[in-house]
This record gives sequence, structure tokens and C-alpha cells, in this order.
Amino acid sequence: METPITRERSLARREFLKASGRAGLGALALMVGGSALLPVQRAVAQYAPDGIREVHLETREVLWELAPGKRIKAMAYNGQVPGPEIRVQEGERVRVVLTNALAEPTTVHWHGVEVPNPMDGVPGLTQQPVRPGETFVYEFEARPAGTRWYHTHFQGHRQLDLGLAAPLIIAPAQPDPFPFDREYTLILDDWATGFGRPLPSTREGTAGGRGGIGGMMRGMMGRGMGQMMCEDMGGMMAGAHTPVYDTMTINGKAYPATVPLTVRQGERVRLRLINASAEHTHVIRLAGHRVQVTHTDGNPLIRPVEVDAVPMAPSERYDVQFVAERPGVWLLACAGPGHADAGERVLLVYEGHEGEKPVAPGEEASDLRLWHYRLGHSRETLPRPARQEQTLTLTLSGGMMGSDAWTINGKQYPRTDPIHLRKGERVRVQLRNHSMEAHPMHLHGQSFQVLAINGQALAQPLLKDSVDVEAHMGAVDIAFTAANPGDWFFHCHKPMHMEGGMITLVTIA
Ligand code: C2O
Ligand code: CU
Repeated sequence: METPITRERSLARREFLKASGRAGLGALALMVGGSALLPVQRAVAQYAPDGIREVHLETREVLWELAPGKRIKAMAYNGQVPGPEIRVQEGERVRVVLTNALAEPTTVHWHGVEVPNPMDGVPGLTQQPVRPGETFVYEFEARPAGTRWYHTHFQGHRQLDLGLAAPLIIAPAQPDPFPFDREYTLILDDWATGFGRPLPSTREGTAGGRGGIGGMMRGMMGRGMGQMMCEDMGGMMAGAHTPVYDTMTINGKAYPATVPLTVRQGERVRLRLINASAEHTHVIRLAGHRVQVTHTDGNPLIRPVEVDAVPMAPSERYDVQFVAERPGVWLLACAGPGHADAGERVLLVYEGHEGEKPVAPGEEASDLRLWHYRLGHSRETLPRPARQEQTLTLTLSGGMMGSDAWTINGKQYPRTDPIHLRKGERVRVQLRNHSMEAHPMHLHGQSFQVLAINGQALAQPLLKDSVDVEAHMGAVDIAFTAANPGDWFFHCHKPMHMEGGMITLVTIA
């Protein structure tokens, strides 16, 4: 239950953010009444005269400083990387006026939001690309509640790599099932800057059904770094045109430039984690604290799941909570190979302990409890089927011998076979990975239930909009009841794989 106190606090926070946004201080961690505010600037959604929440976004090229001395050419929404956090109430009508000041076309996709099809932002399918100098107006009802995000869907691999991504937080209309005293949104991203040591690409998946806890950490950490790099960078797995990633950021900054998270002892703190990376799975750990996973891709679980670390595939979101009861200065960091050194670290500072020496997460990997899909049980929030269920299989393959071609049932988009559904019809999709890399598969327009991993049924379904299918014969079964009419992309969220053809259409009539 949300208490009046938490509601009051969050209202006060919202008011203050409006004021601070005007003063142009939004990118700093602001202090008010001793409480630090979000390091991500919020795009304050004003009410237009017709009562609709209105946000103005402008895409433009900027010089962005990832860390002192690491300045790169990036693309930004409203001049910042990641773009401004948009925060609205569930059920509200939202209007986003996008002006494109880039020298090339763009579009915006509202990831995880049940938008009407023409608002989905897929160029050439749901809208014409927004050309340089043009304006496009997106309008939709904000639902479902949860940690959503928005990003470019135009030539994904370049524009997404260059920074066009941002949080979209839809506050629940009903009291939040997991109330909190303080929250931070953390967007994780990978960068190919040319400054720094190349990081190995991610091949393992996060489902964790295979070998349980150990499989993935063994895959990521068990081998020596040097060996891993030779294997991965040798061109055997990575396609010839895969960018060479060397920098990891949290909210657009690489450690030590990341903005510290401040907490007060006794507070319940929510972290909204968003993986905006093109290529990398991250394994997030907070030194000195276990965290409780409360939401998967924005959707609430029945009860929190306590873990030591949260693996996250590209495009996945996890909300986690912890109680701040270990005063000191701790590091939140990624356990992926080389990621922490490449910048993926941020300080968690208890008030009154500023300046103390930070403690990093331990190196031990074998006895950690890792999040995986089998651990969570979602609240049932999907419409029930009104018709019979059909089952189909999608075999994911490609990337052999360094090829950039990625296929579904042997075909590359646009030659893949669309999945035709009528509204109310339920479909079970068996995803089978015959390739050597994991594929985070994302469905536009609505969420789905994850029913089985690697041949074993989940005790209860998990509600998500992106699901990572493990490499080397990984198998995931999902199901959904067709609810949102239109033509929807269903694709791998690694932009190189999407551009290589790993897309199919789901058409709902
Ligand atoms: Cu978040 Cu089609 O993408
Ligand atoms: Cu893929």
C-alpha cells in the first residue's frame, strides 16, 4: 500500500523537478531537504490547453562527454544522453511533438507501450521516416504502467548506438504494489568510441534455465579476459561489421563520471534498470546489498525475488528494491567481463558517509544467486483468450562464419512469413535458437507470457515484452492473446541482428 507520506514525497519531488528543469540544473543530482534527486533530467510533461500531457522532443547531433577526455559525436533528445525521462500517469493521453534537427531521418518507438499501430514508430511500416527539419506528432494513451522506454527505430544500429534512447515511466493508476521512499532510473549502454580496450560481445543468454545459476557466469567470467577477447574479436562470431564496443555507461556517463546515488539509512530504494545496449548483457550487482526484483519489463511480480545479481539482455528492464541498512559507500557495478573497468560503475552513498572509500562487489561468482526467468511469477494482467490457441515455431539462426545475415525459419525480413492473428486469438510461439549467440526477442504493441524455458514449463508465467533466447539450442515458449490491431514487429533487439533480417511481422486484424 502506498502511504500518504510516500505519495506526498513523490508529489513534492515532481514539483521540485519542474522548477529545477526550468533552472536548467536537471542533469545534476539535486539536493532538496537533504534528498538527492534523479540524475536523469525529466522532460516535464505539461498539460496542453486540451488537457493532454504534452512533451516536446528534438533530435540533434551533439558532442557528448562520456567521461573526462572522452568526447564523442552523439545523437541526443533535447541535448542529453540518455534523453529526458518522460513520466506520466497510467491512462493519461500523451502527445509527443518530435522535431528532427538531425541531418538524417528518424522515428521514435515507445518500447513496451500499447500504442495504436500508427504511433509505433517503425519507418516504412507504421509511418514515413521523419525527415530532417520535419515534425511528427505521436499521441497515445499511457499504458500499461511500469518502466518503459523510448528509442529511435531508424537504422537502429547507428542511431541507437549514438544515444537516442530514454526512459518512459508510467506511474500506476492504482497504488503501487511495491511502494518505495526513493527511486533512481539507470540506463545502461555500450559505446564504440575508439578510445579504450575492445570488450567481448555477449553470446550467452540470461534465461538461466540451463545449468541454473552457474551457466551464464561461467560463460562470462570463467575464462580469462585475454582468451575471451581473442575468441570473440577473432571474427568467428562477430559479424564483419559489428562495431567494436569499448565503453560502458550508466545514464550517459562512464565511471568515475557517473552521478552518485544518494540514500538515507532506513529508506526503501527502487532502481529502475534499463538495458539500452546494442550488444551486451549486463549483470548488475550492488556491493553490500542483495536486491529484490519486483518487475520484469515493467510488469509487477506477485512477490519480490531476492537475488545477488541481475543479468539483463538488451532491451530488458528490471525494477529492483533494497532497504538501505548498511551505511557506507558502495559500488553498483556490472559483473560482465571488463564492463566495470570500461565505466559501468556508480557510487551508492549513504548520507553522512560522503568521501568514504567505496567498496566494490566481491569477485566471487560461484555461490551467487542470479536472477533468471524461472524465479519470477507475474501478476496475471493479460486478456483471456476468446478463441482457440494456435502454436507455431520460429527457428532463429544465422551469423555463421562471421556472416551478418540473421534469419527466422531460414528467411530474412522482409521475406520472413508473417504471423496472422485475429483479435482475441491466442498464439503460442516456440522460439528455438540454432545460432551461437543469444537473441533478445521483442514484440511490439503488447506484452506476452513466458511459459517455458529449454523444455521445462515455468511454474507460473512471466509477463515480458523482450525475452532472451539462449545461444546453442536455447528454447523459449511464449504466448499471448492478440489484443492490439495492426502490423507489429517481432524482432531481435540487437540492432545488428535486426538489420541482418531477424524480424517477423505479427499482424492482428
Ligand atoms: Cu525497443 Cu523494435 O524495439
Ligand atoms: Cu539476435
